[in-house]
Amino acid sequence: MPKKVGKTAKSIESITGRPRLYGRSKGRPLRSNQQSLMDDYFPTLKLSSDSDFSNFSEVWMEIGFGGAEHLLHLATCNQDIAVIGAEPFLNGVAKAVSGASEQNLNNLFLHHGDARDVMDFLPEHSLSRLYILFPDPWPKSRHNKRRIINEQFLIEICRVLKPDGQLFFASDIMDYVDWTVTRLKQNGRFSFVIDGPSAWREPYPGWPGTRYESKAKKAGRPCHYLTFTKAA
Ligand SMILES: C[S@@+](CC[C@H](N)C(=O)[O-])C[C@H]1O[C@@H](n2cnc3c(N)ncnc32)[C@H](O)[C@@H]1O
Repeated sequence: MPKKVGKTAKSIESITGRPRLYGRSKGRPLRSNQQSLMDDYFPTLKLSSDSDFSNFSEVWMEIGFGGAEHLLHLATCNQDIAVIGAEPFLNGVAKAVSGASEQNLNNLFLHHGDARDVMDFLPEHSLSRLYILFPDPWPKSRHNKRRIINEQFLIEICRVLKPDGQLFFASDIMDYVDWTVTRLKQNGRFSFVIDGPSAWREPYPGWPGTRYESKAKKAGRPCHYLTFTKAA
């Protein structure tokens, strides 16, 4: 769950003019091997507006990859695809970097920061898939404006997704599921993919699990795995 947003958040908001959407950006100090990988190896994985995806068949992106369980799974199982991950939480980025180094991945592109900064420079119709998995729920109504799914961001998602591109949204917070379905309906460019009777109740094929999914299950909260296709 997101922690209270304090002074730093306010100053960031005043610089960018956009509300901050995430809680902590740091946890425990990194272990020395993690720090070395961040210093030496992370720069080779860093996404920039000049990153070249021409050797890859498609580009996929995950927003808020947390402990990188799903991101590393995607990149390991799909080495012909460029996989972008955006996450402001340093310890999560360090996990992605360690995993990429262990698996010797050449298809992972990491942004340590707000996914909206990446969306700003991605060209139109550049992504085939976008994953938003267990996003911070911001349950209090006065904090709802910090939810990553909102009218403006859906317009951005529409811009960067290819026609027929897919948006995957998973959550254990029923109010956020309803919120998302409502906003996608209002947007009018997405169709909700319902594959068989268990559809959104079952994880996506090959799903590796994530830390927040496992927390939700332990707490007895049912998880929802929604898939939307952008109209051609
Ligand atoms: C509840 S956690 C879920 C993490 C992971 N997806 C999982 O299922 O375990 C939400 C994550 O989204 C990240 N996040 C929040 N706002 C973000 C943003 N604007 N851009 C990128 N990541 C963001 C947070 O830092 C946090 O790691």
